[in-house]
Amino acid sequence: MNMNTFLKIEGIPSPGARIYSWIAKKNPIMRDLYKDVADDVTSKITSGTVLDVGTGPGYLPIEIAGKSSRLEITGIDISPGMVKIANKNAINMGLSDRMEFHLASAAELPFDDGHFDLVLSTLSLHHWLHPAVYITEIHRVLKKNGEAWIYDIRRDTSKETDTKLKRKYGWLMSFIFLNIVRTHSSITVKEVEKIISSLEISFSSTKILDNGIFLKLQLSK
Ligand SMILES: C[S@@+](CC[C@H](N)C(=O)[O-])C[C@H]1O[C@@H](n2cnc3c(N)ncnc32)[C@H](O)[C@@H]1O
Repeated sequence: MNMNTFLKIEGIPSPGARIYSWIAKKNPIMRDLYKDVADDVTSKITSGTVLDVGTGPGYLPIEIAGKSSRLEITGIDISPGMVKIANKNAINMGLSDRMEFHLASAAELPFDDGHFDLVLSTLSLHHWLHPAVYITEIHRVLKKNGEAWIYDIRRDTSKETDTKLKRKYGWLMSFIFLNIVRTHSSITVKEVEKIISSLEISFSSTKILDNGIFLKLQLSK
């Protein structure tokens, strides 16, 4: 059980949303995650519909829109403060006409069946109180052959991964990430496997990929 499940907090409340937004903007490990995911997205699809679940300050949609002008990008978040910040960030970057953000829960996505080519989510899974329900919703809004890529921080990394992180980002940043961030927001491959085995729907392919400090749950409809 992680800290959020214990405290039963899903959405980040308003003052926390502003603090998170500032940290995520400054943190090089998170910035690299948004950049790497955006690179993967734009090398996989050049046009189509993309949904970001638990979008927070909207940094991932903004990164993707900066790389591709032909994707229709939508972000949803359960926190009103986050949706407000995401809209403001998109306006500040001059990208507000290329994406939209909605206040919504992953439990009930306000979209038709089969609407999206790709559903993304970064660092939100550890907040989800009912992950199997939300993944079922993601399955519903995906087109046939569409994919979902769900990333989160893992606490079951090898010593080698932790050493690589220290080499790349320095001792202090790695210490903060491995000890403070990871205490609050981490999952393990075993926990993700348990979520997958509890699903009542089936994906044509399910993979849990090692992305260093992050894991990527890759689901194909
Ligand atoms: C740690 S933040 C990650 C934000 C962003 N994806 C990023 O990578 O910076 C987790 C986000 O998930 C949102 N969230 C948590 N549970 C949710 C749910 N059930 N439906 C929609 N959003 C949710 C929170 O409000 C928060 O903005």
